Amino acid sequence: MAEFTLPANSRIKKKGEVHKAPEGAARTRTFKVYRYDPDSGENPRYDSFELDLDDTGPMVLDALIKMKSEQDSSLTFRRSCREGICGSCAMNIDGRNTLACTHAIEDCNKEVRITPLPHMEVVKDLVPDFTHFYAQYSSIQPWLQTVSPPPSGKERLQSPEDRAKLDGLYECILCACCSTSCPSYWWNSDKFLGPAILLQAYRWLADSRDEMTGERLDELEDPFRLYRCHTIMNCSNVCPKGLNPAKAIAELKKMVVERTV
Ligand code: SF4
Ligand code: F3S
Ligand code: FES
Repeated sequence: MAEFTLPANSRIKKKGEVHKAPEGAARTRTFKVYRYDPDSGENPRYDSFELDLDDTGPMVLDALIKMKSEQDSSLTFRRSCREGICGSCAMNIDGRNTLACTHAIEDCNKEVRITPLPHMEVVKDLVPDFTHFYAQYSSIQPWLQTVSPPPSGKERLQSPEDRAKLDGLYECILCACCSTSCPSYWWNSDKFLGPAILLQAYRWLADSRDEMTGERLDELEDPFRLYRCHTIMNCSNVCPKGLNPAKAIAELKKMVVERTV
């Protein structure tokens, strides 16, 4: 299992707030949750939330919602679908990047530790700033690009075999669990695109209908954007959707080499 350090700006105070479970709770679990409000001027800290598991849903997201509803309404995190399809609730649970809504409390450590995705600026508590990540996504022009008119005059058809080449790529929910688990991305995210964005770049290069292959490869052929991947493999190990960004990156490198030979 890949384990990660806290955000680089972290200086954790020893004592945070302690929220106890209700009297009489028989099956309790303690969650240590990273708290940080950059506007407060205070250092980050861990708050302790004890919950009655007999009165809590099964997933870590259920626990966070309960903490916010019943113990501290200022606790801040993102979530939307609670089904593992929007990517909003990505965070680090017990040292591993994952989705809070699909991660069962039963699979957590006895004392559950929850921090934001590593090595991103923190907006508040468990909410990282995705501005740069989305700018990188935008930079690969993630849409179908063509120059010729559709052969049928209506739509661009694709054979089942060509469509199958997009399996394992189109399912990416852009949660950034992979990119924020990659040491190369930690240190070079200003220039290295990282596994999530590179998997997306390959998704369009692998699409038989797209006609911008040369231009897309030109954009990637750079010492940093693509080649800062050193095959560390944390990305594929951690993806909560079971995707393989490292393989997509290998395919990209192959495409770059093959067009020059
Ligand atoms: Fe998330 Fe997996 Fe997509 Fe990376 S490849 S952004 S971990 S879904
Ligand atoms: Fe990073 Fe994955 Fe490459 S962890 S170095 S992007 S194989
Ligand atoms: Fe949508 Fe978790 S809330 S992926």
